Amino acid sequence: MNKLITFEGVDGSGKSTQIEFLKNKFDQLDIQYLSIREPGSTVISENIREILLDNKNSQLCSEAESLLFMAARAQITSEAIIPTLEDGKFVICDRYIDSTIAYQGYGRGLDIPFLKSINNYATRGNIPGLTFILDIDYELSLHRRNRQENDRMESGGGDFMNKVKGGYHQIANEGERYKVINGDKPPKEVFKSVWQIIVNSYGDMNDQ
Ligand code: TYD
Repeated sequence: MNKLITFEGVDGSGKSTQIEFLKNKFDQLDIQYLSIREPGSTVISENIREILLDNKNSQLCSEAESLLFMAARAQITSEAIIPTLEDGKFVICDRYIDSTIAYQGYGRGLDIPFLKSINNYATRGNIPGLTFILDIDYELSLHRRNRQENDRMESGGGDFMNKVKGGYHQIANEGERYKVINGDKPPKEVFKSVWQIIVNSYGDMNDQ
């Protein structure tokens, strides 16, 4: 089973907190992993991230936006994800291919089969073993974000975020690797479900 574990959900869904819990758990058990975020985590991908999230780039069209996410993804896949998996280690990724389907596909209305095809190109067909979709109430996600200023993607507003959230619900039906988790619960309880699924999927974690 592919040791790439991805976390997905709308902005403010609590992914980062769950990833911190998972990293701590892996550290305790001495399990080796790489933890990264998309877009970003390599020098080139972080440069692309700046273009994508900069509010000054309000002119960026949806097609260019998608291709920039893909460029960042291709780079991190080739530079970091594939070599780490080849070493037999886990990779924990904050967002990956499904973010593009949810945000650019369902959110922006771009052609989903085409986005899937370029996802496949950017990742060389590398599909996560497990994908957690943290499902959260929109108002709660706004509260959790709690930032002074929205980035360019967060400026999409409630309508956009609702489309993205609906998109994740559709995506969740597309395969066994998707695990929808109710993110409205307290973070520690959410993590109990996450960890249980990881153990059920990868077996005895002391053997990793
Ligand atoms: P980030 O600050 O990392 O948000 P979060 O903490 O919610 O993950 O910003 C990433 C933004 O980019 C987020 O709004 C989701 C969006 N995004 C896409 O629209 N498409 C993609 O393929 C990816 C990876 C992210």
